Amino acid sequence: MLASIAFELGQPFIEIKEPLPRTEPFPARLNFDSRLPFDIPEPVSGLAPGRDNDVLAPLPVESNHFEHRLAELPRLAPPVSDEDEPPTEEAPEAEPVGEHGQPRHQAHHAPGTRPLHRSGARAGCLHLAAFYRRPRGHYAGPGWPAKVRLPPVAEYDAALERMRSASAWFAGAIAISATGVGIELGLFEALREKGAATPAALAAMLSLDPHAVGVWAMTLVHHGLLDPAGVGEVALAAGVELLVCDPRTPLYMAPLFEFHSRFLGRDFAELPRFFREGDPRPPARHGLPLVRNVAAQTAAMQEAFVSAMSSELPEAGEALAAGGLLLDAGCGAGGLGIRLCQQLPAARYLGVDLDELAVAEAKERIAAAGVAERARVEAMALEAVLNGSADAAIFFLSLHEFPPGTRLPSLVAVRQALRPGAWLLVLEELYPATPLEALAERSRAAIQFQYEELLWGSHLLTRAGLDSLLREAGFTEIVNRPMLGGNVDLVLARVS
Ligand SMILES: C[S@@+](CC[C@H](N)C(=O)[O-])C[C@H]1O[C@@H](n2cnc3c(N)ncnc32)[C@H](O)[C@@H]1O
Repeated sequence: MLASIAFELGQPFIEIKEPLPRTEPFPARLNFDSRLPFDIPEPVSGLAPGRDNDVLAPLPVESNHFEHRLAELPRLAPPVSDEDEPPTEEAPEAEPVGEHGQPRHQAHHAPGTRPLHRSGARAGCLHLAAFYRRPRGHYAGPGWPAKVRLPPVAEYDAALERMRSASAWFAGAIAISATGVGIELGLFEALREKGAATPAALAAMLSLDPHAVGVWAMTLVHHGLLDPAGVGEVALAAGVELLVCDPRTPLYMAPLFEFHSRFLGRDFAELPRFFREGDPRPPARHGLPLVRNVAAQTAAMQEAFVSAMSSELPEAGEALAAGGLLLDAGCGAGGLGIRLCQQLPAARYLGVDLDELAVAEAKERIAAAGVAERARVEAMALEAVLNGSADAAIFFLSLHEFPPGTRLPSLVAVRQALRPGAWLLVLEELYPATPLEALAERSRAAIQFQYEELLWGSHLLTRAGLDSLLREAGFTEIVNRPMLGGNVDLVLARVS
């Protein structure tokens, strides 16, 4: 059996050059077509050194045990270029072609690496699938244990695709965690100030564990948020300052990283219990840090929304500019009111929320912004708002958090609070109604938010669900205006 050590992004894996007979006696001897360029560490369970160019594999391989042993082999060399590839007697594999005739996987084939579809391996990890890759239509591998079903070719290829997606998810989870930790601990800020620093210097500066900071730096260099700089130093990669350090641009995503790394990790750990018991844990348990985090997440959207309101809905914009009152149902920390009063110097604002912590925070922020004369926030039910007092009303990404039983009475109360002819604006991520709709790109945000807030008891509405709820509450002239590529909808409804 001819085999060779190959590299994918610097990681070694064994490439089988010819199909192995399933009758191969175990342990099998894999003969390499050149001398192994390293010593097999001793002991590496799962692999044993053979003669000069041999590795003994104690087969049958029943798990991905073998792959992990391979991963333990030393990192040897930079990725080989295709030109360096040892000669093979195999006919070259035809480039797999996608549905529409385009070559598949091209995007993964970085210069100096082998195309991923040929090996099934990927940076930093070795997969059994690579070991079992299928040269010239055969399943190759050092023998399949009897209990392993040989999948049809299409299923095998589909599994490889899924495996690649899963690899990206795992990498993404690590990148989110590392970025969130870096924001929380001030590591990005420190790098911004210093320009470049060694992880040890960063650790000393912030009194952090040097090993942990070293791992943080390597991880984010790997994921492209940090660049190697100087000897052993790292620096922020281009664009990262805008992404995590500068709250004045719409590209600022630090609150989202914080949301995931600080709050959702804890929530997700409780999901199995929630699935069994169906007993939600309201977000209030995360306290003021989450109230502030949500306010930071929605700030840029609120600013853009207030700026766009006059053109999106001139009637409401003009009424507010002329000193009208906006009722904000589920106002959170009141950011919308601050932006409204800052942009429209005569507008008035009433924010209502049941979360007393959020209301207290809103009051402080409104006072600090100097708009307390025109902006008021109350911890009360919407039913308590005075009839006919509002010139416009809004649910700004809040209706999905209202428990289903409270939605109709809340909408009826808002309708009654509006003067005749006034508009209600509902900004929402609307949930796909069918699995087919879940496939659509415009469902992306709703799918994400619904899952993120599942434990809280949030139920996102569908387009049809919101439409019928608004009609039931007595609104008319209902119009949907998809925004942000359709990921968020602005739904307008009028009091007749
Ligand atoms: C995602 S937050 C949005 C906050 C705010 N609109 C923003 O954009 O920052 C949803 C808010 O709805 C509030 N909420 C949920 N149910 C409510 C109800 N029945 N009455 C009033 N507010 C409610 C929550 O307390 C929370 O502050």
